[in-house]
Amino acid sequence: MIEAKSIGKFFSVINEKGVAEGLTAVLNVSLTIPDGKIVSILGPSGCGKSTFLEILAGLQAPTDGTIHIDGKLVLEPLPATRKEQIAYRRRYRFISPLANGVFRDRPKHDIAMIFQDYAVFPWMTALQNVVFTLRLRNADKTGAAKLKKRELEEKALVYLRKVDLAASAHKYPSQLSGGMRQRLTLARALSVEPKIILMDEPFAAVDALTREKLQDELLRLWDETRSAGTSITVILVTHDTQEAVYLSDEVIVFSPGPGTIRNRIPVKVKRPRARTDAELVEIQERILAMFQYDINQEADYSI
Ligand SMILES: Nc1ncnc2c1ncn2[C@@H]1O[C@H](COP(=O)(O)OP(=O)(O)OP(=O)(O)O)[C@@H](O)[C@H]1O
Ligand SMILES: [Mg+2]
Repeated sequence: MIEAKSIGKFFSVINEKGVAEGLTAVLNVSLTIPDGKIVSILGPSGCGKSTFLEILAGLQAPTDGTIHIDGKLVLEPLPATRKEQIAYRRRYRFISPLANGVFRDRPKHDIAMIFQDYAVFPWMTALQNVVFTLRLRNADKTGAAKLKKRELEEKALVYLRKVDLAASAHKYPSQLSGGMRQRLTLARALSVEPKIILMDEPFAAVDALTREKLQDELLRLWDETRSAGTSITVILVTHDTQEAVYLSDEVIVFSPGPGTIRNRIPVKVKRPRARTDAELVEIQERILAMFQYDINQEADYSI
């Protein structure tokens, strides 16, 4: 279970006059997401969706509030090696007792994040990209038997096959189409065998048909993990209302910045769903009406 309590994020930015200004990107977001659900976050550009997702992943620290996953506190990235830890302690020596405690009890969370821009290494083939994450994972497991190169490649192929990319294993990202690159990021995320996948507009850069195909693939893979008893929680940021409603158990609508929860809309329609399902369409229209209302409100302010 993911529990976000009163999350806030405040940035200091230097304006054109060289003066520091404050910007609240996320304001007082509290949210509980049970295991195995698909939840979408919808909201206008710049309302703090990516920031909130990165806080969930522990890639940024919130300025307010806490995130717990399965009861364990999520912390921003901390040094992993001894050398890095010594450097970190030296830098933050005034909080060193705290830092020591943090290192010792540093919780591990099984999270994979798919970023807004394709996060694949362009100089590695599709296969090498997946092997790279597997190798990171492999190095993590101290004591456990390490896999050899061939075993890693075989394992990587399993994940490439899941997303239908086995035939393109030896192509470089620049030789793949947008949809294929997107599937490669999905294969990489799955290869971590995460409990949570955070996706930031994963299907934004592909055409409508490919997008629908990728959505169905995601549902299929999610369902597979459910039948295997290792259900994944998916949190997905999107601009696409139809996508959010079609995929999710719940849609969370953020207000225009600073991002705060405007509405939570459960989608109780059984899967597999038809995109044209009357109840889904009705929910979509309700959300669109909400956005329309926000835009009109904004227009009123400017008069
Ligand atoms: N590192 C940073 N420093 C200062 N301001 C930032 C930083 N990161 C994000 N912001 C600001 O915080 C706000 C929210 O940004 P964020 O990227 O979370 O929006 P978003 O909802 O993901 O937008 P989009 O839909 O366009 O991706 C924006 O106004 C942005 O300029
Ligand atoms: Mg974003």
